[in-house]
Amino acid sequence: MVHHGIIGCGRVAPNHVDGFRAAGRYGVGWACDRDARVLKEFALAHGIARSTTKVDEVLEDSEVISVSVAVDHAQHAALAERALVAGKHVVCEKPLALTMDDAGRLVALAAERDLVLSVISQHRYDPLVLEVRRWLQAGLLGRMLYAQVSLAAQREPEYYRDSYWRGTWSGEGGSALINQGYHVLDVTRLLLGELSVEAAVARTALLDTVMETEDNLSALLTAGPVPVTLNVTVAARTLWRTRIQLVGTQGYVEFDLDHPGTLHHAEGSPLLLEAAGRLREQAEEPPPPGVGYYGISHRRQIATFVEAVMDGRPREDPRAGLGMVELLGRLYSATQFADRRK
Ligand SMILES: NC(=O)c1ccc[n+]([C@@H]2O[C@H](COP(=O)([O-])OP(=O)(O)OC[C@H]3O[C@@H](n4cnc5c(N)ncnc54)[C@H](O)[C@@H]3O)[C@@H](O)[C@H]2O)c1
Repeated sequence: MVHHGIIGCGRVAPNHVDGFRAAGRYGVGWACDRDARVLKEFALAHGIARSTTKVDEVLEDSEVISVSVAVDHAQHAALAERALVAGKHVVCEKPLALTMDDAGRLVALAAERDLVLSVISQHRYDPLVLEVRRWLQAGLLGRMLYAQVSLAAQREPEYYRDSYWRGTWSGEGGSALINQGYHVLDVTRLLLGELSVEAAVARTALLDTVMETEDNLSALLTAGPVPVTLNVTVAARTLWRTRIQLVGTQGYVEFDLDHPGTLHHAEGSPLLLEAAGRLREQAEEPPPPGVGYYGISHRRQIATFVEAVMDGRPREDPRAGLGMVELLGRLYSATQFADRRK
């Protein structure tokens, strides 16, 4: 009998419980949070039999085959490393780490010990994203001219004020980009390939009394010869609006990563229009109860992780997460906040 352990029982943790239960191969045996009150409520709400404030208690249990690392960004590396050294497969929330040294060490350690290390980037598993990727690969948009990608979100002051880590360089390593903007940026990499940073501007436009990091970041990137503009903010008056516009010589596509993702516009060649029509006919999967806010794609990524753990193949590639740590570092280094991010 093997189990999964959840380390960090905060906002995102219900998505992990749901994902492992939906995958159905093994259950969640442990909840772990250093805050005893949070832990008790979480374990009770989700019916998890064993709970502890001590990470070692989970890692020392030989029945625990894998763990989720779902704590603040600054502790991802240390906790994931302890879990890998203890022989556990790891699902780590994004970002994998705050520095390339840490991220590289984790990827090497997982490979050396033949353990699965999966960095959550759930929108890489959205059917809409994967379909648009197929259109690009099949040349349905022609030669890419440019892409425009953005996230406008609203975070209330309490979101930072009441948190021990959000809005701090030491705990979060940035904010609007590394946390909320992460998804739209990583999906852009999946669609267009690795990105170079041409210029970036960051500022704290609205929430400067509650955060030291950026609430607004804009950048000009390039994917080979293709310019990509990126705009992210958490200071908007809209809960969560992502947009990805792809403009090619044969087609224009506009879609989002909201919950659930929607194809807003597709225009161009007959083949593109046919493909878009087929996509629109597909039924949407309803969000799981209790975790609807982040959509359903954690389930898809966790199902892939569980398959890799139980069946050996196919393996998740943690280098996707490593590439994000590198790109985030280059983006922040191009802003006026470069010196504040150690
Ligand atoms: N993929 C997504 O869409 C998504 C959404 C939200 C959050 N996240 C990520 O999930 C992670 C957690 O975010 P959150 O919003 O759930 O944070 P949170 O602050 O709500 O929860 C973190 C929990 O971890 C606990 N914790 C901290 N250090 C610990 C330790 N050493 N041992 C045990 N427990 C510890 C805290 O007490 C807290 O309860 C972050 O990396 C964040 O970026 C991802």
